[in-house]
Amino acid sequence: MSTIRLVDVTKTYSRSALPDRIARANSVHSQADRAFAERALAHTVEEQSQRSQGAGPIVALDHVNLTIPDGHTFAILGPSGCGKSTLLRVVAGLIQDYQGHVYYDDQAMEEIPPKDRYIGMVFQNYALYPHFESKGNLDFFFRIRRAPDEEAEERIRITSEMMGIGFKELLGRKPGTLSGGQQQRVAIARAIVRNPRLFLFDEPLSNLDAKLRTQTRVEIKRLLHRFGITSIYVTHDQTEAISLGDQIAVMREGKIEQVGPYQELREKPVNAFVAGFLGYPPMNLLPGGTVEDGELRLGDIGVPLPASVRERVREGQSLTLGIRPEEMKLILGRGIESDGVRMRGAVEVVEPDFARQSQLAYVRTGSMTYSATGALDVTTMINTGDVVDVVFPPEKCYFFDGESGLRVA
Ligand SMILES: Nc1ncnc2c1ncn2[C@@H]1O[C@H](COP(=O)(O)OP(=O)(O)O)[C@@H](O)[C@H]1O
Ligand SMILES: [Mg+2]
Repeated sequence: MSTIRLVDVTKTYSRSALPDRIARANSVHSQADRAFAERALAHTVEEQSQRSQGAGPIVALDHVNLTIPDGHTFAILGPSGCGKSTLLRVVAGLIQDYQGHVYYDDQAMEEIPPKDRYIGMVFQNYALYPHFESKGNLDFFFRIRRAPDEEAEERIRITSEMMGIGFKELLGRKPGTLSGGQQQRVAIARAIVRNPRLFLFDEPLSNLDAKLRTQTRVEIKRLLHRFGITSIYVTHDQTEAISLGDQIAVMREGKIEQVGPYQELREKPVNAFVAGFLGYPPMNLLPGGTVEDGELRLGDIGVPLPASVRERVREGQSLTLGIRPEEMKLILGRGIESDGVRMRGAVEVVEPDFARQSQLAYVRTGSMTYSATGALDVTTMINTGDVVDVVFPPEKCYFFDGESGLRVA
């Protein structure tokens, strides 16, 4: 077991290799949750175009400092192309030409080759050896180390037991005869069998369909709890990050934006990027407001600023308003009286959310589009084109600087 530390790690790539990278980024989202994948992809495309305009190398990791405590599962969450895989590969030692330092406990890892780091890695594509049966995939590691047969047998036996119901039956089959979920179970077992001191997962569920994704996620969680081994789990999917990570690091464009437990990231996002990346659906971010007389003026509405915010802003400063869809209450027809900031809009799209016995409406007011779920149960009749009043409590608002994106107060 180890505490993993990255100290001021920077990794750059030369620009010539970019096209291959775009192709890979585009394939990532195929089976992922649509909304997030689209968001991630939008970021990627935007990021790629921004980056490709610049000169000089691509900065995949930009002065990254990160400590992953011993025995914790640490999730790294960010849109595709933000540098997650690069970070994992640096930790694993698969990338060596970087600046900065990586430590396992107090040992600097620069001179230690990957094979001597005792890492179990699981990738998005299962990367099993196709000619070996599952068992052969598991004991490959022992064969290259010339370990005694008894040791390999014993480790495989223990691992199969850990993997649980139905795993033993997979041992005699080749990867080509297994489903994606089964292949990923074998890949996970292959990481476990070597008794690693560190687990690295790189989007291991992205190639599975929704049901298998949930099952395998639960299975990974069960295994990680059982082991208590330091683990880094990289994903663009916040559900996975929330479910598996004791802590989450949110990454953007090679930088770590914020680290903390999910609840903390959600309640106290440091900036608009983190706020707009977390939550389902994420917080509405309405840009283009300005500070006037202790209020945020945005289109036709005025949102009173709390004292803590007023102290930190100047007249005329541009601010982005953040407000969660849950706080946006839709009032249909004449509706009830309700305190708060009120704006009128037209419903553009409605989606039922049966799991929460609710509906999600996308509403447009002027040039702003936002999502609202407040006061909408599944039985409320609501249609595209309906004109509604949307009311939200000003005390639930977040305010971000219009330029830096940093949260005010
Ligand atoms: N082998 C490579 N050659 C050139 N550029 C690369 C290579 N791998 C990654 N990159 C660049 O580094 C950035 C980070 O990539 P990556 O770590 O794969 O991101 P993620 O895993 O978050 O999708 C990408 O924007 C990409 O342009
Ligand atoms: Mg990746």
